[in-house]
Amino acid sequence: MDNIPMSAPDISRIEQQTLSRVLQTRHLSLGPYLEQFEQAVAAYTGSRYAIAVNSGTSGLHLAVIAAGVTSGDWVITSPFSFIASANCVMYERAVPVFVDVEAATGNLDPALVAEAACDLTRGGAAAQHWLPRSLKQSSNGQPKSNIQNLKSILPVHAFGQPAEMAPLLATAQQHRLAVIEDACEAIGADYRGHRAGSLGDAAVFAFYPNKQLTTGEGGLIVTDRADWADLFRSLRNQGRDVFNAWLSHTRLGYNYRLDEMSAALGLAQMQRIDELLAKRARVAGWYDERLAGLDWVERPFIAASTSRMSWFVYVIRLKAPLLRDTVMQQLAGRGIPSRPYFTPIHLQPFYQQQFGYQRGDFPVTEHLGDVSLALPFSGVMTADQVDRVCTVLTEVAQSQAVRRPVFSAGH
Ligand SMILES: Cc1ncc(COP(=O)(O)O)c(C=O)c1O
Repeated sequence: MDNIPMSAPDISRIEQQTLSRVLQTRHLSLGPYLEQFEQAVAAYTGSRYAIAVNSGTSGLHLAVIAAGVTSGDWVITSPFSFIASANCVMYERAVPVFVDVEAATGNLDPALVAEAACDLTRGGAAAQHWLPRSLKQSSNGQPKSNIQNLKSILPVHAFGQPAEMAPLLATAQQHRLAVIEDACEAIGADYRGHRAGSLGDAAVFAFYPNKQLTTGEGGLIVTDRADWADLFRSLRNQGRDVFNAWLSHTRLGYNYRLDEMSAALGLAQMQRIDELLAKRARVAGWYDERLAGLDWVERPFIAASTSRMSWFVYVIRLKAPLLRDTVMQQLAGRGIPSRPYFTPIHLQPFYQQQFGYQRGDFPVTEHLGDVSLALPFSGVMTADQVDRVCTVLTEVAQSQAVRRPVFSAGH
C-alpha cells in the first residue's frame, strides 16, 4: 500500500509549463512574473496593493514594522497559532501579548481582546494582568511615559477559518490600533462575505508547499495603504527607496524578495485557485462524512460568520478519555501520519524561557493543544486514502476504548 503523506502540493502541467518558460527568460528575480503574481492576488483579495515576499514570516515581520511596532511595544495576538505569528513581533524587540481563544474555532476571543485592549491602553496596574509573568513587575513591563505601548492586534485565521473580525476591528478602531491579519493559512476564506486579507490594515499569506496555494517558499502582503505598500517594497529590497536608484538605501531593509521561479509557480497556481480550494473542500467533505456520528471525535467547527472556509488542514479533536498522543503514535505505527496541531506558542521552550509562561496561563488554548490532531490532508488526496485514515483511526480509538473501560457513548 502506498504511504499517505501528511500533505502534498497540487502541481499540474500548467505549473510545469509556466516554470519552464521562466527558465528561458533572462529574468530570474524582480521580473514580470512577480508583478503578474502580485496583481493576480490583489485582484483575488480585492486589495489595492500586493507585495510578494520570500515567506509568510517575512511578510508578517514587515507588517509589524509598518504598524510602527518598536522595542517594548505590545501586540495582542493568539497563543493558538504557528510560532511565526508571535516571532514576527519579537523581531522588533516588542512583546506579543497573548489573549486566549474561543473554544469553538480556536481563533482569538474578541470579548477578551476588547478587555485586554482597554486595560493595556490604560497601562499601569490594569495592564499588568495581561503581560507575561517575566514582564509584570519589571521596568520593561511598564508603559513608556506618555506613550501608548499597545500598537496593534494581530489576529490569526487558524486552519483557514477567519477570526471573528467585526468586533476585533471595532476594538482596534476604538484604541487606534493597526490590524495585521495573519492570513497565512487562509487564502480564499471569506468572513461575512468579505475576503480574508481585505479586512485589516495589512494581511499576509504564506505559500509553503503544504498550503492551499504554493510557491515553494514564499509569502505575500496585501494592503490598501499606498504608504505601506511603498514601505513593503523598499523593506523587502534592502531598504532601497522604490523611486530611487539601485544603489541608494534609505532605511534598514532586508532581502525578503521572492524569485521569479516562485512567482511563476504562484501565478500558475492562482489561475487554478478555485479548483485548488474546491478539491480541498471535497476532501474535507469526505472526512466529515466518514467521521460523522462517531462519539469520540469532534469534527472541525465552522462559525456562522465564516461564509467560506478555505481548508488548510483537517483538524479533529479527540474526546476524553482518548489520549491524543497515544492515538498519534498508534496511527504512526500503522503508517498514518498525523500532527498535534497547534502546540500552544506560550508553551514552546523559547517562550517559556523568555517570558516565564506556565501551563494554566491560557486554558482554552492549552485544552485545544492537548486534544487537537491534524489528519493527512491535501487537495490530491483520494477518497480511498481518506477511508483508510478513518478506518485505522476508528480501530485505534476502539482499541484504546477497550483498554480504558470508562469510555462510553456520550463522553
Ligand atoms: C498561522 C501561520 N503564520 C505564519 C506562518 C509562516 O509562514 P512561512 O512558513 O511561509 O514563513 C505560517 C506557516 O505555516 C502559519 O501557519
